Amino acid sequence: MRVLVIGSGGREHALLIGLAKDPSVTDLHVAPGNAGTASLATNHAVDVASAPAVVALAQQVAADLVVIGPEVPLVLGVADALREAGIATFGPGAQAAQIEGSKAFAKDVMAAAGVRTAHSEIVDNPAQLDAALDRFGPTWVVKDDGLAAGKGVVVTADRAAARDHAAELLETGHPVLLESFLDGPEVSLFSFVDGETVVPLIPAQDHKRVGDNDTGPNTGGMGAYTPLPWLPDTVTAQIIDDVVKPVAAELAKRGTPFSGLLYAGLAIGKDGPAVVEFNCRFGDPETQAVLALLKSPLGQALNATATGTLDQLPPLEWADGAAVTVVVAAENYPGTPRTGDAIVGADADGVLHAGTKLDADGTVLSSGGRVLAVVGTGVDLAAARAQAYDRIAGIKLPGSHFRTDIGKAALEGRISL
Ligand code: GLY
Repeated sequence: MRVLVIGSGGREHALLIGLAKDPSVTDLHVAPGNAGTASLATNHAVDVASAPAVVALAQQVAADLVVIGPEVPLVLGVADALREAGIATFGPGAQAAQIEGSKAFAKDVMAAAGVRTAHSEIVDNPAQLDAALDRFGPTWVVKDDGLAAGKGVVVTADRAAARDHAAELLETGHPVLLESFLDGPEVSLFSFVDGETVVPLIPAQDHKRVGDNDTGPNTGGMGAYTPLPWLPDTVTAQIIDDVVKPVAAELAKRGTPFSGLLYAGLAIGKDGPAVVEFNCRFGDPETQAVLALLKSPLGQALNATATGTLDQLPPLEWADGAAVTVVVAAENYPGTPRTGDAIVGADADGVLHAGTKLDADGTVLSSGGRVLAVVGTGVDLAAARAQAYDRIAGIKLPGSHFRTDIGKAALEGRISL
């Protein structure tokens, strides 16, 4: 099977590592890719937001399967264009991708499916902002009602900070979503979804704030671990039965069945799981940890989802133990990152590339905010953390920073339901 992966982050590098291990995968291509993916696949400098360009590339490399990593091409209908060209594609069409692309759409689907989520209001008129803010608090959750790569979300107990963020979004023409704050530890549960068939992966937890102990601004994700020692299997089953399956069924009922990876981001509160957000693709950096433990052939699972045969896929098999991803971010991330620095240690084991590129003489340079995703595995969370941080010790990138506490609260038994 010839596979083309779309995207250039740590998630796509992890997908390529998994695909390269699948004996049914003969040939790997990626667009645009990064310095790390170049050693596993052929990188193609193609605009992945352009459906005609992606279709042309898929035809040129005779792809049997296209796997779309990021949300932007999905929301723009690149999967629809590939399917119309007769190419099996992992990733939802534009309408089902609205589960991530429009928070208002996601709320409507959840209401129809009877799924618990935060109370929310959309504000698109600055004159209504103050009255709307008064209906929320004492913790305000202010989101961009569109794609914002996690960075558009502000969670704060400071009303003035909430107001400033909302006003800034409105000034730039973005409707604002205000939400009630959901308490409780967060879980990311990914599922392969093919219409009403749902095959869950193992639950993971992201760390969204930039600093240790969940301080500083939100980011696209600074690290993750899996599995979650504090999450009972009964709660995972509840998430699948009460959240993922009803949403998949509702999308199918609307005539826009989901095909691909449905990411449920949840808070597990006193009354059980409630949805913080849905995403229409693999999460980053949870994917790097989750796929590190997958023993089943990844290409066959993605292909079964893409070809509508997920119900015939043998049960997924997982390695025992744990996996941890720690993101190495560029100086100033999540603000405008410093780029263009040479990285030492970028080709070591467990070092996945996110924002990197090769210069003309083959040196690996930083080229984005989240630069590397370093993965450790081990018999348990302590061992996986130790390996991830050992690996990070071998990396040199001027000005870079990473969290030192990924998975630490779970390890120390400080997360409970
Ligand atoms: N882990 C956050 C995201 O992928 O959106």
